[in-house]
Amino acid sequence: MNKITDKTITLIPSGNDFIRCEIDVPFVPTPLNIVDEMLAMAHVGKNDTVYDLGCGDGRIAITAAKKCGARAVGIDLDPRRIKESRDNAKKAGLNENISFLNQSFFKSDIKNATVVTLYLLSNVNIKLRAKLLDELQPGTRIVSHDFHMEKWRAEKRIEKGNHTLFFWTIPANISGIWHGKIPKTYGGFNFSMGIKQHFQETIAEFISPEKTPVKRCKIKGNTVEIRMKLLIDKQSRPVRFTGKINDDIINGTMTAIGKPEEKWRCVREAFTVKPLY
Ligand SMILES: C[S@@+](CC[C@H](N)C(=O)[O-])C[C@H]1O[C@@H](n2cnc3c(N)ncnc32)[C@H](O)[C@@H]1O
Repeated sequence: MNKITDKTITLIPSGNDFIRCEIDVPFVPTPLNIVDEMLAMAHVGKNDTVYDLGCGDGRIAITAAKKCGARAVGIDLDPRRIKESRDNAKKAGLNENISFLNQSFFKSDIKNATVVTLYLLSNVNIKLRAKLLDELQPGTRIVSHDFHMEKWRAEKRIEKGNHTLFFWTIPANISGIWHGKIPKTYGGFNFSMGIKQHFQETIAEFISPEKTPVKRCKIKGNTVEIRMKLLIDKQSRPVRFTGKINDDIINGTMTAIGKPEEKWRCVREAFTVKPLY
């Protein structure tokens, strides 16, 4: 008889013997109505690739493929779960666009995911944090059923009966020292800006031509919005920069009331980027 002897060790029958399978979380399926809520929270659609880390009987991956038309990958360390997932996918009439891998999610290549779903434990989510932030593309969405990521604050949180869903977007790393030029209509000067970042939270300031605090520096995926006051025509006026980060370059536009929209660009000083966690 199979049994979970404690939270992490499962004994799987193999012939007359047992294989010891060290899982980090026991199998408990997400109720199907909560699966729908998780996929809706991440706005899963046909252009997405959903990875369910610790896929159990495959229900999240199967629903993502069947109802949302997404490509789906389920990963589970327990071979019985993978067999169950494959059988369930077959029963659901799915053979393309879905795959199940019998391996540890800690050792899996997850970089192609556009959405990651989790029903693990907070301590396991916390152990996974660095991998998610290092390997997933900025803009990848993450939904976790019931378990948070401690200091990586969720962007959204919803309660459904006695279930809680948490949502994050992988932020681009905007930390470091950036140099750029303010267009002529806005004063025409060179500036340097320093940004510190912890997960998606940032603190930014202009370092030169003079120290100027940045009121808001918001990063969502690879999109940045900066709001601050600049001296324009001898008056301190609120300006708004928006832009897209691509490696060490931000390209975007800036606006202020009564001023035309202008293009804006800045470049990061080599080796000033810091880890997000
Ligand atoms: C709570 S269940 C969630 C199942 C499914 N995602 C759902 O929400 O219905 C957790 C699953 O993670 C699997 N698991 C635990 N540790 C793992 C690891 N290190 N790598 C891959 N799978 C793991 C377990 O075998 C179990 O099926």
